[in-house]
Amino acid sequence: MRGSAIVAVLVVIGLSAVASAGTPHAIQKAPFGRAGEQPVEIYTLTNAHGIEVRVMTYGAAIVSLKTPDRAGQLKNIVLGFDTLDPYLAGVPYFGATVGRYANRIANGRFTLDGKSYQLPQNDGVNSLHGGRQGFDKRVWSARANQSAHGAVLRLTYVSAAGEEGYPGALTAHVTYQLADDDTLAIDYEATTTAATPVNLANHAYFNLTGDPTHTILDHQLSLNADRYTPVDATLIPTGELRAVAGSAFDFRAPYAIGKRIGDADEQLQRGHGYDHNWVLNKPQPGAMTLAALLSDPDSGRLLEIRTTQPGIQFYSGNFLDGKPAGSGSVFQYRTGLCLETQHFPDSPNQPAFASTILRPGQVYSEKTLLAFRTLK
Ligand code: GLA
Repeated sequence: MRGSAIVAVLVVIGLSAVASAGTPHAIQKAPFGRAGEQPVEIYTLTNAHGIEVRVMTYGAAIVSLKTPDRAGQLKNIVLGFDTLDPYLAGVPYFGATVGRYANRIANGRFTLDGKSYQLPQNDGVNSLHGGRQGFDKRVWSARANQSAHGAVLRLTYVSAAGEEGYPGALTAHVTYQLADDDTLAIDYEATTTAATPVNLANHAYFNLTGDPTHTILDHQLSLNADRYTPVDATLIPTGELRAVAGSAFDFRAPYAIGKRIGDADEQLQRGHGYDHNWVLNKPQPGAMTLAALLSDPDSGRLLEIRTTQPGIQFYSGNFLDGKPAGSGSVFQYRTGLCLETQHFPDSPNQPAFASTILRPGQVYSEKTLLAFRTLK
């Protein structure tokens, strides 16, 4: 009977349940444990084709994301856990919103308007992903809504002035919209009370096979970038924008990730594989353009990423090592890869890179769009 496809849509916002007939998308809220004293919630957004994303308020993180393969079979394509505990025990930014400054700041130090700031050095000598307790380890507030196009979840976190060494109180918003055209839009917005570096990114680990016991080495990747930012031994950009042509970093046409990952290339050795920022080709800064195409030839899943951001960090899961082992899941070496749309690493110390400084009165605004498609 066709009636099974015409599901009554239940919108659960707070404690009230509202049936909204005729709207094919939905959003539901459920408790997801506690981080210390703070309750954590998980929201489930679904669209007309059964695509489902679950987002928790801890870290404003994507916990799971189910998309169809070429036969229509839905599977989870991101690494994550069914319970909060493994996240609290410490995971490498699974699905999280990273900030206040995504990626690395050299020696955890920068100078702004003549004043120097010291951030926590939580990655060797560098500061990584906002320090010891970045935005990925904070409980965000959330508001669920529906637009004409899809289910919308807006998360907010207010980072106090001085938190993790950063100046200014920063109000950050991340909005997820799962639309019926099979896209997930992630919008970032922030304002500040004093000048501060800001760089917000999502740190989902994708595995388009839907089976995280498989590595991502057979995934085909293309990146819309003629150049990348090579790094020093501590993964800080040297400042050079190097042409990808003729190297293992050339993804202008699709390549299997595993094909050149073991090449005798100094940059690959420094990253233990791919862990670099590509300079996205843009007609002008801030233009919404194609960043990446990732596909799994077996399942036929294809992920298209578009963004307003100038860069994309492609990280091939080189530090995944089977830990943590919560919820019966272990995530082994290179079983997930990140495509983090963002500003370039260490921009606060690199005057030639686009500025990441937000000042009072300005609004930080960036957008990344994930489109879920299938190969023929
Ligand atoms: C980012 C970094 C990597 C690694 C992961 C988390 O992607 O670039 O070097 O730190 O986060 O493990």
